[in-house]
Amino acid sequence: MAEMTEMVKDFFTDAQINIKTLHNVLSEFLAVEKGGQKLYEKAVTLVLDSEVRTKFREFHKQTVNHQKILTEVIEQLGGNPRVMSRTAKVATKKAQGLLATMGRTGITAEEAELNAVENIVLAETKDHADWELIGKIARQTTDSRLREVLRPAARIVEEEEDQHLDWTRQKLREMQMEALIKGGGTNKPAKTSMKMSSNGRGARPKSPGRARSRA
Ligand SMILES: [Fe+2]
Ligand SMILES: [Fe+2]
Repeated sequence: MAEMTEMVKDFFTDAQINIKTLHNVLSEFLAVEKGGQKLYEKAVTLVLDSEVRTKFREFHKQTVNHQKILTEVIEQLGGNPRVMSRTAKVATKKAQGLLATMGRTGITAEEAELNAVENIVLAETKDHADWELIGKIARQTTDSRLREVLRPAARIVEEEEDQHLDWTRQKLREMQMEALIKGGGTNKPAKTSMKMSSNGRGARPKSPGRARSRA
């Protein structure tokens, strides 16, 4: 949520929003929420800490609801939520890029856990900024219909986005400090072995196996 002084300033600022540009931007924000859902789904398979897993399941549920709210907002403003803007496609690729780094191959289970939490912080930084902007548009727009649609949506979601970002950033710091104190980075990474199959082609790398749970 924006700072109080900025919010007060917004109420005394008028902005004429270009609706076509807004539709493209909302399409991007929807893609960010969809990417966030996938990142949470992957992260819960990598996180060892049971408290973090529980929190991520809660945030995942809220992220799915944010998609529903954004879809309704786009429809109420006369847009088609199934049409992806150019920047929505870029946002989807960004999430895919983060997802591609998430796994246990070549790193320890603890390092994979930290990477998963870090990726959530990166994704939530963008998600948080998106909803801050929606709140700002709702406060500054001269279009009463736009204000009517965006204000209740921002009121519900902005607080949850504050929690998503604040909690995950705080947790990442704690986990990084814990790893530094324990020297977690010195553990051996999960091994991968490439066996040659009878046809001479390389077989798939061996699964590193299930990691020990702290739960
Ligand atoms: Fe969200
Ligand atoms: Fe979020």
